[in-house]
Amino acid sequence: MADNTSPETSPLDPARRTALTSLLTLGTAACLSNTASAADAPAVPSAPAQPTPPRAPDHARTAEPNASHPSPADQPGNAHMRPAAQTPADTLYRPSMHFTPTIGFMNDPNGLVFDGSQYHLYYQYDPFAPYAGRVHWGHATSTDLLHWQDQPIAIPETKDGEAFTGCAVMDIKNSTGLFAADETGMVALYTRASPTKQSQYLATSKDRGQTFTEYEHNPVLDIGSNSFRDPQILFHKPTSQWVMVVAKSRLHQIAFYASIDLIHWVHLSDFGPSGLFGADYECPNLIEIPVEGGGTRWVLFVSVNPGAPTGGSITQYFIGEFDGSRFIPDDTVIGLTDFAKDAYALQVYSNMPNNEAVSIAWLGNWQYCQELPTQTWRGSMTVPRTMMLRRDFAGWLRLAQQPRGVETLRGSAIPFAPRRLEAGTSVTTPLPSGSALDLTFSATVDERHASLPPGDKGRTGRFVITFGNEQGETLTIGFDAFSGQLWLDRSNLRGFSQPFFTGEFSTVLNPDDRHFSVRIILDASTLEIFANGGLSVGTALIFPSAPLSFLRLETSGAGATIESVSLYPLHKTMNRETAS
Ligand code: FRU
Repeated sequence: MADNTSPETSPLDPARRTALTSLLTLGTAACLSNTASAADAPAVPSAPAQPTPPRAPDHARTAEPNASHPSPADQPGNAHMRPAAQTPADTLYRPSMHFTPTIGFMNDPNGLVFDGSQYHLYYQYDPFAPYAGRVHWGHATSTDLLHWQDQPIAIPETKDGEAFTGCAVMDIKNSTGLFAADETGMVALYTRASPTKQSQYLATSKDRGQTFTEYEHNPVLDIGSNSFRDPQILFHKPTSQWVMVVAKSRLHQIAFYASIDLIHWVHLSDFGPSGLFGADYECPNLIEIPVEGGGTRWVLFVSVNPGAPTGGSITQYFIGEFDGSRFIPDDTVIGLTDFAKDAYALQVYSNMPNNEAVSIAWLGNWQYCQELPTQTWRGSMTVPRTMMLRRDFAGWLRLAQQPRGVETLRGSAIPFAPRRLEAGTSVTTPLPSGSALDLTFSATVDERHASLPPGDKGRTGRFVITFGNEQGETLTIGFDAFSGQLWLDRSNLRGFSQPFFTGEFSTVLNPDDRHFSVRIILDASTLEIFANGGLSVGTALIFPSAPLSFLRLETSGAGATIESVSLYPLHKTMNRETAS
């Protein structure tokens, strides 16, 4: 059994440390060819024998580190040259219970770790402008993953480069040897990114993640690439070693390294290309996740940008086995964490009690995140999500995600309890202004009407959940009983338009099943849909030009019985100016 908590046995075995250090003094190439793990491992079938070193098409650029997303200088009309001025959109679109930065630009979650009393959320952050320009690690803390306290910037950009994505772990046994006996150490591992180089840096914190000091012999891992980033580390108990997963981005591979001290790293294996090619592989995360009904499997998350079937950024995942040196997928299937397009760079929490698998993703997409209608701030996080593996209708294991703890934010229920809708009818309720909403809903669409001509299954029933306003804008989530599919349509909202900001998404729930269940969290410019017990999750930015003021349920083609419905406003969790 492995876990993502700290080591039980001290890895500070002097013999191992000496052996590892002397291997590393031979240099990376010698080290690779001499390690037993590298030599013994059977070839990974999909990996080229001699991978071409990554050479980005934009290799010659001198201004920006290599990553497949637009830089501030690429913004239409040189928008980044104009000072960011507060607009009404900044308030209208500010979520009240999703984490957003006070000002500036936020993308990936970083360093997700529980320190024993507080949860940390570090994040990719440009504090100077609402663009992904000069990346620091922003920081917030929480005792419930919902109410967040802003903290000072934890890791700044330095002369060595921007502070790109990475992770944090509790170094309880002092693996690094960098802490005194009575200190509880935290270690951050992240990418320093310059136009010519991406290498892995280590920093230590002796004050529970408030401030970090960079290790004096950084980088701890450098393969001479400008496309090598986003390390995540975990402690693998069966082999008593720390394991790093890190992206060789342009090569479309995830590399695995091992260490006993978090400082010296030995290459173990490479995984991929697998699943989507896209332009860059980013933000790999590996975690052992419980299977409903018993047991666990390992899940490797790999974010790809651009290259999503839905456009732009997407996180794919593979279910399999991790033996301490290689990830072996169970099959050739790739899963996508989302059926819409605004959940990216998923990261899992380290050091969770009981090994609970909890993730947060950036609620955005590189295709348009720097052009959103807000001006002084841009970027939201998803709600924390509990993850487990469940069997789908066909018996295959799949990721199921559910919001974690959001029930605790519920206010008084909004009275709304329709039980039955005949075909072609609807029922509407006004929505309270200025608060996030939590709608839980399950219904069964009637069997085909007896008066219809004979046909297969009766292609009739649709059930539509509409959030709308007096301005005629609608956001719909609809269920098609014939095919067992769910759609999400944000295209009839008029607050933002951009070529890549596409409107319609769909997912299959259970084919040939007239029953469906959804949980919807709607919070200003964010929408999260958890359908079919979390097996289908849709995350979308939404920009109505005015607040959505009513909820309508409606049927077409067939009637429906509503088994359960509950609608709650959610309390605000952060001290930010939001719509009232
Ligand atoms: C993913 C990503 C990472 C990189 C970071 C830069 O969204 O491109 O690969 O470390 O963002 O902010």
